[in-house]
Amino acid sequence: MSSFPSKIQAIGINKTGDFDVIEKLELPFPQQEPGNVLIKVHYAGVNFIDTYYRKGLYPIASFPKPLGSEAAGEIVALPTDEAVLNDEEYKLRKFALGGKVAAYTMGAFAEYVSVPWDKVYPLPDGVSTKTGAAGLTQGATVLTFITEAYNVQKGDIILVHTIAGGLGLLFAQLIKARGATVIGTTSTPEKAEIAKSYGADHVILYKQEDTVQRVLELTNGEGVHAIFDGVGKDTFEADFKMIRRKGTIVSVGNASGAVPPFPPLKLVEKNVRLLRPTVGNYIYTPEESRRYTTELGRLIADGTLKIRIHAEYPFSAEGVQQAQKDLVGGKTIGKVIVKVAEP
Ligand SMILES: NC(=O)c1ccc[n+]([C@@H]2O[C@H](COP(=O)([O-])OP(=O)(O)OC[C@H]3O[C@@H](n4cnc5c(N)ncnc54)[C@H](OP(=O)(O)O)[C@@H]3O)[C@@H](O)[C@H]2O)c1
Repeated sequence: MSSFPSKIQAIGINKTGDFDVIEKLELPFPQQEPGNVLIKVHYAGVNFIDTYYRKGLYPIASFPKPLGSEAAGEIVALPTDEAVLNDEEYKLRKFALGGKVAAYTMGAFAEYVSVPWDKVYPLPDGVSTKTGAAGLTQGATVLTFITEAYNVQKGDIILVHTIAGGLGLLFAQLIKARGATVIGTTSTPEKAEIAKSYGADHVILYKQEDTVQRVLELTNGEGVHAIFDGVGKDTFEADFKMIRRKGTIVSVGNASGAVPPFPPLKLVEKNVRLLRPTVGNYIYTPEESRRYTTELGRLIADGTLKIRIHAEYPFSAEGVQQAQKDLVGGKTIGKVIVKVAEP
């Protein structure tokens, strides 16, 4: 450990608020816990959840709080706990010093992170740390949601809001790969063209077209089998008009604000199933997370799943502020990442 610095740079907040609360932090070098993998971060993914913390929508235990929830880089120290080293699931990950990994960790916008081993995933050969940081959260979300929240089947018709977003382009590819039809919504013709090139069959420009009417036209008036809705407040009501009898609405996120409380009786009209899952609860156990991230790595490595990076932002307060502004401002097409260090 002696060759490591005593302090690290990170980007985060000391209070909740608008974009300008994001600042550069100097933090102690992360303590190496016996069950953790220590990672030198190359890239970190930017997610809506960072903005939910920054605004105070999700609670924060203490300040200073470094932001970011997913990172990719190289292993610089391994766990030392005997129980961990003898764990069968641990051995299956085949971690080694210098190995390239992606990880879930709160405070990912930092030079080094210390992460419990079961939240660290080896990257397959040929998958860079840049792609790893860009693909982990969104890829695992899409893979688990189309399998567990609603198991997409050949012949289904599926509606995805935010089809041109980080999550949306992955939904388009993997739903299509299952032999289902993808209907997406987005704001601009430019975004629609890109979504189509990633597999969306029909893209509705919700600012110019009547989304409900178009979806009903495309489904012979029956509605879709499932809806993946990352917009939230603005689209929730209309989802009930576009879902078919016994269909499934998956509330994926809050890009336009959280869905307000509603009466369960709302579901009886069509016997609708409604879920509000998080990826973290689908890849909770070491076995679940290994299974899904291994599958994700395979899909990326063999080219089935293409990760489109909108842009990479600098590792500075201004860089993260701009990344958040562009993400919540609907300006991004694909994934937003921060470059923390040269790989
Ligand atoms: N549940 C989970 O575990 C989980 C995991 C990851 C992400 N998510 C959620 O999934 C959603 C998408 O995440 P993402 O990172 O892939 O983002 P994204 O889709 O790349 O960006 C959000 C997009 O939402 C659309 N949008 C529609 N109404 C909006 C509004 N009022 N304000 C801002 N954007 C609006 C914009 O696209 P258009 O221009 O096309 O309208 C914008 O580009 C977010 O709600 C996020 O919280 C959930």
